[in-house]
Amino acid sequence: MTTKTNQSWGGRFNEPTDEFVKIFGASVFFDKILAPYDIQGSIAHATMLSEVGILTAEEKDQVITGLNQILGEIESGDFEWSVALEDVHMNVESRLTEICGDAGKKLHTGRSRNDQVATDIRLYLRDQVDEISAQVKRLQSALLDLAEKEASTIMPGFTHLQAAQPVSFGHHMMAYFEMLSRDAERLVDCRKRMNSMPLGSAALAGTTYPINRQRTAELLGFDRICSNSLDGVSDRDFAIEFLSAASMIMMHLSRFSEELILWSSAQFDFIELPDSFCTGSSIMPQKKNPDVPELVRGKTGRVYGNLTSLFTIMKSQPLAYNKDNQEDKEPLFDTVDTLKACLRVFADMVPTIEAKRDNMYNSTKKGYTTATDLADYLVKKGLPFRDAHEVVGQSVSYGIEHQKDLSELSLEELQVFDDRIENDVFDVLSLEGSLCARNHLGATAPDQVKQAIKAARKTL
Ligand code: ARG
Repeated sequence: MTTKTNQSWGGRFNEPTDEFVKIFGASVFFDKILAPYDIQGSIAHATMLSEVGILTAEEKDQVITGLNQILGEIESGDFEWSVALEDVHMNVESRLTEICGDAGKKLHTGRSRNDQVATDIRLYLRDQVDEISAQVKRLQSALLDLAEKEASTIMPGFTHLQAAQPVSFGHHMMAYFEMLSRDAERLVDCRKRMNSMPLGSAALAGTTYPINRQRTAELLGFDRICSNSLDGVSDRDFAIEFLSAASMIMMHLSRFSEELILWSSAQFDFIELPDSFCTGSSIMPQKKNPDVPELVRGKTGRVYGNLTSLFTIMKSQPLAYNKDNQEDKEPLFDTVDTLKACLRVFADMVPTIEAKRDNMYNSTKKGYTTATDLADYLVKKGLPFRDAHEVVGQSVSYGIEHQKDLSELSLEELQVFDDRIENDVFDVLSLEGSLCARNHLGATAPDQVKQAIKAARKTL
């Protein structure tokens, strides 16, 4: 027998792999983070193999002890990763064989790296989804606290970024709570389909050994097994679903970021972010830049890019496994890391947001934000809405001309536009009156906001 060109598959090769091709094809640089899941999967596989009589009890014990030793070596940084061994799977297996000889060589019976890697990614992502779900909840709970504190704080609500109607700042924060609630549901939902076990699909067609897939699935905490081996090894839908849910979360964080950036500008001046979450400028001494929300907004592009990457990697692959699939990992890992960092920094930052209540209030007085209230007032006095709209439009135009808010016009000035207007109109034209009048489920009256917060706390 001649020397093998590759320890795992060199048998049919006469020439060694090109040196650069080895590096080009290796994934160990990034897939080594799957090691704990690879080992978890191997322990379950070995356990099942011994139960069905493919490994002896002694071999199984050797394998499990060896795998646990390897896990320890990896955790302590003593493990020697080899690029020549291509990926995490062969690195672990090769070390196992060093440790326990033939028993290590038997571990791969009835299994392929194709079903192995598909299983590893699912195990990894399932853990990550659980962590991310907890982080979403942590951010939601920070939002609830802020919303509670600011339930009666009045700010201008916008449409087209033009002042529209007074809203509660707490209500505004609760809008983000709602977005994150849907995000949390999406994570739960994508976890369901993720929690299906490909192991046993082997390379693509299943295996000739009498394996017990149900048992392995049970050991690994999978809800079910993938029912088609070709699909099992090649399906990455669960990763795309996750990337899509992650993109949605980032889109929400990015919208929130955009508002924080605007609000902390001198022009809006609605909030103060603490120094600890901002940076200065090396040239302009007066600057305090909202770097954290800006970076989150920027990183959103990167997560969208990762979603597009995976869609594109998958789009023209024939069944079943192709080496293209190795490219699924970096976008996935990068998304997990980016998303976790963004959720963490937001959950840390939200409690530090200081609402500049007076500035918000004074800003709400600009832009005729109670004009709709005046129209509603006239409707209640018998005017059809369209006519009321016209009358209020004229009074706004008069106010602009005389640089006065509607609430600053005298009763006589208002009555010029409609003689049904009486002294009680000023209750309606106040910001507080306007806010409190929107007092039904889902609306911005502080009482409603407080109730919404109470209900929301129960869902967390
Ligand atoms: N490193 C590979 C991947 O990430 C593992 C599976 C390799 N399978 C194979 N037949 N080359 O996809």
